[in-house]
Amino acid sequence: MIRLVNLVGARPQIIKASAISRAVENDRTGGVEELVVHTGQHYDRKMSEVFFEELQIPQPHINLDVGSGPHGRQTALMITRLEELFLDSRPDVVVVYGDTNSTLAGALAASKMHIPVVHIEAGMRSFDKRMPEEINRIMTDHVSTLLFSPTIAGFKNLIREGFAPENSPPYNINNPKIFHSGDIMYDNSLFFGRLAEKKKDLLNDLGVQEDGFVLATIHRESNTDDPQRLKAIFSALDAIAADHSVPVVIPLHPRTVKALQELEEGFFEKISGGDLLKIIPPVSYLEMILLEKTAGLIMTDSGGVQKESHFFKKACLVLRPHTEWVELTENGNALLTDADPEKIQAGFEKYWGRKDLSFPAFYGDGHTAGAILEEIKGLFI
Ligand code: UD1
Ligand code: UDP
Repeated sequence: MIRLVNLVGARPQIIKASAISRAVENDRTGGVEELVVHTGQHYDRKMSEVFFEELQIPQPHINLDVGSGPHGRQTALMITRLEELFLDSRPDVVVVYGDTNSTLAGALAASKMHIPVVHIEAGMRSFDKRMPEEINRIMTDHVSTLLFSPTIAGFKNLIREGFAPENSPPYNINNPKIFHSGDIMYDNSLFFGRLAEKKKDLLNDLGVQEDGFVLATIHRESNTDDPQRLKAIFSALDAIAADHSVPVVIPLHPRTVKALQELEEGFFEKISGGDLLKIIPPVSYLEMILLEKTAGLIMTDSGGVQKESHFFKKACLVLRPHTEWVELTENGNALLTDADPEKIQAGFEKYWGRKDLSFPAFYGDGHTAGAILEEIKGLFI
């Protein structure tokens, strides 16, 4: 039996891990024992628990309760607790997702104990090392044994950094294997896309109509922790809502709520006081999918939401100077607006009401998680 640690910490990782959990569950050979480990990086009910319930992931067998903190302290505490856990539970393999501090901590703790690391969402690069995520991604990739890149761009980034696609088994940290695998988030969007329809009452509750609202999310450190950028983005959203009488639904990450409350006095009250800017708490995954499927346009600085815009055939304004998901901007249905109100306005005018966009299949066939599990099992043959 292969002991696999499925490591989560932040909201998108819980969602991604559900795809691997499903693959383990569907694996007829039953050769994998899954241990879901939650670092506790995200802990509010709406940032964590709700996903375990809705996505039918086994409850975390272990929650390390690390919580929030500055990067160094948070990551160090995760490494310390993960190391203790790995010593105790002796996993054969540790699966980490994406680019958060939980990803890096899992990769460092496991690799130094000679436990093979599997990195799902490997190779993604913004080429901006001022982003904490960019550091986390690069470091994680370079201590991993199996690296699964969702896109061809990510796969090429890995080759550029010295990974050899021709490596042959047995794979290990010194002889890693890179794959262009497709995206497990696409698997999830297909699996949960239909189920989201049962959340349709949410549109009535919010007082919005299909194709008649903008969906926006903002949480990236570079936007929340820079008061000028944060103000510019929210002022632009406010102006679009007012000028075009279009509701803007914003399920807001707790980090952004705190940052807005700390901005100049009265700003948060002003933007959240009207009828059209609908700032709401984080929503569940099924609710989020429903909003993505029914929005007229999406604006976001989230990696996951950029891709889901594409999965659900919606144009997307990317509130960042660059993106790791370059195929989206190259295809033309995603536009980098950064935090520039003029570009955001122009982007809205370019895409609002458009029905003539095409969305090629960039992210695999919807069966990526199963294929990844087979490769993981292959490590132990
Ligand atoms: C983290 C990831 C980011 C990812 C995002 C997904 C890092 C460096 N960043 O960013 O890549 O896109 O998760 O959502 O790992 N907070 C709460 N309740 C919670 C969680 C957070 O109130 O349940 C607040 C705390 O004030 C905390 C702040 O949000 O200090 C930031 O949380 P943190 O997990 O450090 O980073 P995220 O911005 O969530
Ligand atoms: N998401 C959600 N509820 C929300 C906001 C986002 O379920 O209120 C989902 C979204 O559908 C996507 C994932 O969370 O699957 C993206 O996570 P996030 O934006 O926090 O992080 P990122 O992808 O940028 O790392």
